[in-house]
Amino acid sequence: MKLITCGLPYANGKAHIGHLRTYVPADVYVRYLRLFGEDAIFVCGSDCHGTPIVVNAEKEGLKPKELVDIYHEHFQRVFSEIDIEFDYFGRTDAEYHHERTQDIVKKLLENGYIYPKEIELAYCPSCERFLPDRYVEGVCPYCSAIARGDECDQGCGRHLEPGEILDPRCKICGAKAVYKKQKHYFFRLTEFRDFLLEYLDNLKGTENALNYARQWVSKELKDWCITRNLEWGVRFPGEDLVVYVWVDAPIGYISFTERACEKRGLDWERIWRAEKKESEIVHFIGLDIVYHHCIFWPAMLKGSNYSLPDGVVASGMVKVEGKTFSKTRGYVVWLEDDYLASGLNTDFLRYYLVNYTSHQKDLNFSWEVFGEKVNNELIANLGNFLYRVTYFAWKNFKDGGEAKIRANIDEDALRVIEETVKKIRDAIENWEFKIASDAFMELSSFGNNYFQSHKPWELIKSDIEAAIQVVSTCLHIAKALVILSFPVLPKTMRRFSRIFGFEIENSKVEDVLSINDFVIKKPEIPFQKIEEEKIAELEEMMLERIRRASKMEEGILNEGEEDIKTGDKMSEKEDLISFEEFKRFDLRIGKVLRAEKIEKSKKLMRLEIDIGDEVRQVVAGIAEDYTPEDVVGRLLPVLVNMKPAKLMGVESKGMILAADVGGKPVLLSPDRDVEPGSKIR
Ligand code: MSP
Ligand code: ZN
Repeated sequence: MKLITCGLPYANGKAHIGHLRTYVPADVYVRYLRLFGEDAIFVCGSDCHGTPIVVNAEKEGLKPKELVDIYHEHFQRVFSEIDIEFDYFGRTDAEYHHERTQDIVKKLLENGYIYPKEIELAYCPSCERFLPDRYVEGVCPYCSAIARGDECDQGCGRHLEPGEILDPRCKICGAKAVYKKQKHYFFRLTEFRDFLLEYLDNLKGTENALNYARQWVSKELKDWCITRNLEWGVRFPGEDLVVYVWVDAPIGYISFTERACEKRGLDWERIWRAEKKESEIVHFIGLDIVYHHCIFWPAMLKGSNYSLPDGVVASGMVKVEGKTFSKTRGYVVWLEDDYLASGLNTDFLRYYLVNYTSHQKDLNFSWEVFGEKVNNELIANLGNFLYRVTYFAWKNFKDGGEAKIRANIDEDALRVIEETVKKIRDAIENWEFKIASDAFMELSSFGNNYFQSHKPWELIKSDIEAAIQVVSTCLHIAKALVILSFPVLPKTMRRFSRIFGFEIENSKVEDVLSINDFVIKKPEIPFQKIEEEKIAELEEMMLERIRRASKMEEGILNEGEEDIKTGDKMSEKEDLISFEEFKRFDLRIGKVLRAEKIEKSKKLMRLEIDIGDEVRQVVAGIAEDYTPEDVVGRLLPVLVNMKPAKLMGVESKGMILAADVGGKPVLLSPDRDVEPGSKIR
């Protein structure tokens, strides 16, 4: 038995193709294991805690649980569309998960691996609160890149401990944070140094992960602060703190295994209890979270007497059009809005993701390459062979609706099938999904050549026995291809296998190698070719997104302006925004507390506006039409989550809204007195 897990997606945003770099290969792996007769349990679930969730929920005016509900459901839906089939897909805000986490934390406390310590924490004087993780932004002390709270995700990729970040600022209000003392709890990671060095020497997995991890352990291990000032999360026993999300998230692997085992009547302890362990545990992750999986996680497991993972398989990262994946800069491909909405066969994407390059390398997504790869390989080679051969057999041997073809196989071709099986088996053992999928594509090329060079359409007129041998041989190759490519192309092969009349889900490698008579139903084309226009359309959609994002970045996108200029179909669509998009605008009523003209400017006025939970400085172009006295005390609509900007050297955080009357601003006010901070929806 093997347990396979996938890094848990944060339930705070939509699924994109970057995510699939972890999930598709893991699903492919599990399907191959089962094909080769190995029992596997496959679990994953939503990562529901941590500041990314809390911050996003706050932004959207939702409770964390409400936000999580939306995205948990979204991920489940997308995974099922793409045929990623977990035995259990849980969520870390479930009670059973909290219980398992507390059990582990208590064990660590009992075993003396957790200790309290007073530390200096980033604190925002204007929001009056501590700033855990994503609430703080500053400079990475190691590489000087801009870093967010607990990780240097745009620079060196290191995990950052609370208090480490330089020049901290509050992410919510932008104020300079100060450092303030508070008691927190630490995990004695440094005590695990020797254990980790030895463990990493025996750990299986991809070299990229192991190399990084070894380097980190030998150089810079630190004790690890495992508590946070948040409401949302798993409570730390006896304190008004929650555990750091990276403590509880991987424990999801255990709590979800429990649920999966319950469903199948298995004993989870034989997987996760150190003294009872019988099964192999393999984690699939992206290269961005190696530190957590190869260092924190095994140390935590070791310290609480749970069993240790046997393998960590890390994929390279997905890039888009040669650029680092970035939602804000538009370099992103959304699964639901882009891919699924396009109506393309989801197997195309699965194939592209496993076959584009080795699992460890970065993968550069481009629609053009995607289209070419699908059309030239899947369609022209595999699709062509499967259809050509089965159609020929059906057409020439049918009797009523079905064709019967006696077993009569060319032994040399059988050897080729056997070699393919071996190649795939070896490749899968080494997590070389490209090599595995290349192997069935090579078998398909072999089949095409075989059919072409043996000319069964001539033999059928001159030597019927020879014709039967060619057709039977090709059908055996086709059967092998259907079964061997099923893990990568489940949707297509499930459908196509019906013409052979077998249950593909339960097929085993023995079925690939068995020699049998065939009864063939009338085949349909396995894949539909992708039209060039479709690719052009998808590409244009993406370029448009990148263009828009870069304009937003520069702050030169004036509403309406750009759309009129392009005036094409895309921008007509863009004029309509969804409620989701609208929700991103944090619009509130603010009360002007102070106002003054900015000296060097004719138009600009500096306002201090109470927006409910803080006072914001906003610069507005109203000084030609209003005096400071006119506006002090007024209630005005404010776009609160406007990107900060500097105008005449004065920082502006937010934008007041006014009617534009012939280029002159006319201020707006609510119908009656309302509290500053009231939401506008
Ligand atoms: N919640 C954490 C993982 C906790 S595991 C105990 C997380 N979530 S995530 O949503 O950001 O990513 C989920 C998985 O997708 C991770 O395995 C991550 O490595 C992977 N990827 C997310 N974006 C990716 C790319 N652009 N490229 C490749 N894989 C990436 O991390
Ligand atoms: Zn850094």
